[in-house]
Amino acid sequence: MLRCVPEPAVKANSGGSLREALDDFLELREVAADPAGDRAEREQPHMVSRFYDVVTRFFEYGWGKSFHFAPRRSGEGLHAAQRRQEAGVAGLLGLGPGLRVVDVGCGVGGPLVNIAQLSGADITGLNFNAYQIERGWRALRRAGGVRGACDFLLADYMDVPLADGRFDAAYSFEAICHAPDRHRCLSEIWRLLKPGGRIALTEWCLTDRFDARDPIHGDIRARVEFANATPQLPTTSGFIAAVQAAGFEVLSSRDQALDSDPDFPWYRALQGRDLSLASLARVPAGRRFTATATALLERLRIAPAGIGESARILNEAADALVQAGEEGILTPCFLVHARKPDAVRIDPSDS
Ligand SMILES: C[S@@+](CC[C@H](N)C(=O)[O-])C[C@H]1O[C@@H](n2cnc3c(N)ncnc32)[C@H](O)[C@@H]1O
Repeated sequence: MLRCVPEPAVKANSGGSLREALDDFLELREVAADPAGDRAEREQPHMVSRFYDVVTRFFEYGWGKSFHFAPRRSGEGLHAAQRRQEAGVAGLLGLGPGLRVVDVGCGVGGPLVNIAQLSGADITGLNFNAYQIERGWRALRRAGGVRGACDFLLADYMDVPLADGRFDAAYSFEAICHAPDRHRCLSEIWRLLKPGGRIALTEWCLTDRFDARDPIHGDIRARVEFANATPQLPTTSGFIAAVQAAGFEVLSSRDQALDSDPDFPWYRALQGRDLSLASLARVPAGRRFTATATALLERLRIAPAGIGESARILNEAADALVQAGEEGILTPCFLVHARKPDAVRIDPSDS
């Protein structure tokens, strides 16, 4: 039965052409990367949203509707692995009909649609990128109806205009890595949950193999962060500590990348070993071809201005990720399962 809440009119994109989005992104990226500047933290969310204005169409072309990595079994395709990971998160949280759930940083709605179809839960997709929200509504419509009542909310996950205790559960796939203030984001999720509410977050983290004194590691990390708009990636233990500092009780954590078949590492999709037409945009040869072709189409004024440069930015991001993966210093699938305590203890000495 189709039970979607009415679709609000959302203005597509944060405004302007691809060229304008690209110019904004490049300018804001410099601002956000300047540790001495006082605008860095303030501008970071705007910069990330402009990043997604630039890259979303490429991601949809290369990745489909789910924009996250996933541990892969031998011979398993990326999309099958993503769906299996999404089902795993739904199972971990015990999602089912009647539960209200928030998808934090929901992309274009791939995980939301899949999880809603599987579980029947009522899911709100939270995202601050207007274009992606519009695509999310479209994915929901095209899914031909999900069992739960789902909707999307255009909002910054560090400042959500919803009442406390609204949700039974929250999940997020690879979105908190963009937060300039992780604590604020995790505290907002804590506030939005009912007591006893549970979260499952899969996040980009530096692994134990990352050595901050190794200049090669430092260089790869800097390039991953800069090219993917993911500032100050935490270590796995740092991420657990951040979840606890926001008030959650951690139930379990695991680097799911370690569950991949050795021949199917999480970064395989960017490596050029998944040869199929659909993956062309993700593999190095395909990415080079896309960059050259788009630059040519741009010169001929067939493709929008800025498309060639956007393809170059994506290539830099992908190359840095493959290097980080090959060195084993980054995981994009660090899963933390945690809960908000039933009753918040009040320390009498505070009064
Ligand atoms: C790598 S994508 C993952 C999308 C989605 N979870 C998926 O797996 O398909 C990261 C998402 O986080 C969103 N995001 C980043 N910073 C955000 C913020 N401050 N508030 C809301 N959404 C944010 C982006 O717009 C994007 O949709």
